[in-house]
Amino acid sequence: MDRIRITGGNQLNGTIPISGAKNAALPLMIASLLTSDTLTLENVPHLADVELLLRILGNHGVDFTVNGRRENQSGSYARTIHFTCRTIADTTAPYALVSKMRASFWVIGPLLAREGRARVSLPGGCAIGTRPVDLFLEGLQALGAEIEIDGGYVNATAPKGGLTGGRYTFPKVSVGATHVLLMAATLANGTTVIENAAREPEVVDLARCLTSMGAKIEGAGTSTITIEGVPSLSGARHRVLPDRIETGTYAMAVAMAGGDVTLEGTNATLLDSALGTLRQAGAHITETESGLRIVRNGNGIQPVDITTEPFPGFPTDLQAQFMALMTRSSGVSNITETIFENRFMHVQELARLGAKISLSGQTARVEGVARLKGAPVMATDLRASVSLVIAGLAAEGETMVNRVYHLDRGFERLEEKLTRCGAVVERVSD
Ligand code: UD1
Repeated sequence: MDRIRITGGNQLNGTIPISGAKNAALPLMIASLLTSDTLTLENVPHLADVELLLRILGNHGVDFTVNGRRENQSGSYARTIHFTCRTIADTTAPYALVSKMRASFWVIGPLLAREGRARVSLPGGCAIGTRPVDLFLEGLQALGAEIEIDGGYVNATAPKGGLTGGRYTFPKVSVGATHVLLMAATLANGTTVIENAAREPEVVDLARCLTSMGAKIEGAGTSTITIEGVPSLSGARHRVLPDRIETGTYAMAVAMAGGDVTLEGTNATLLDSALGTLRQAGAHITETESGLRIVRNGNGIQPVDITTEPFPGFPTDLQAQFMALMTRSSGVSNITETIFENRFMHVQELARLGAKISLSGQTARVEGVARLKGAPVMATDLRASVSLVIAGLAAEGETMVNRVYHLDRGFERLEEKLTRCGAVVERVSD
């Protein structure tokens, strides 16, 4: 099993290319199930989650080619992938595949919309809370779907003649359930109104792609999305937007290690809230022609309190990374997690490096320390893992991050990108 060894102490200087967003690529790939024409996606990151979803989609009848070649011959950045699903080969998404990645549950929307039925295993995914699927099911029921849960599977059936437009108000913001309802509604009969929809940039990106495919969508990026169903969708060509979580992660790495790095191919509007917080913490951030420049030279790290919120608030996917940064601040910072109930697994691991963190309910109190010291640590989930890398960059000596398969799910060539900027980070394969 691969591990990552970090020798802390170096500043970061140079350029880091930002990949296409994992959280946009996944729903965009799933949208290929909605049409018998070819959907071409550019700027698709090379990540374990993407590879797994390719397998899952293949099971449903999606043929794909990567940069004109078969998938396993490619290894380049920014891949272009062509997806064609002439007919749905199988409307069942089995436990063996869905349990490995929660987002694969989202195939339920397109399968139901196009074929009138879907049998999808209840999901697994990161161990960051119970993460139920009640909102998905309620939303699909509002479009007329019959839902039955049997033997760990959700059996969903559309009425004769297909799904019908409806109105659904989310009691709580859900990114995944918004994606699913949006996709399902594109092929429903009549108009659907989604209230309290997720406003994340990835929802907007999916809506843009669906619109290029012929869908009629208004309001994506606001809390109310209106979709007028169409009989069928066509193919399209779409470029995946830059990864705002990867952007924020490297920005925090620079704030932690010090230095001067340009994050290429990204933009500030994707993460205004997190960048504002980083500025308060002492980083200088400027927009450049090619992306964002992050500088921290000489000055210390200031403590800042944050609370995670749905977009446009501070993202839960950057909470662990920000906590790593706060372990070195000059005071006390309170970090409150409101999206997932069990997203503090990195606390124990950061403590192994010498961080002083106490937990009280959903709030972590982080008392900055003058130095961290390298130690072996365990990656527990995707974003928690990278927080340990950030801490390792500023820790004295060697930090060994075990179980890095979590990192490979969501960060493309992390060690290469950091090494290019002067960090000492290497992958160790046993
Ligand atoms: C997506 C992101 C993930 C991010 C999260 C919140 C992808 C692939 N993943 O996950 O990186 O951390 O948004 O920004 O895009 N919930 C319910 N019932 C449901 C659905 C959700 O109670 O039916 C709850 C969840 O348990 C959680 C909250 O709603 O507490 C938000 O979850 P949601 O926005 O759905 O997260 P994901 O779409 O799974």
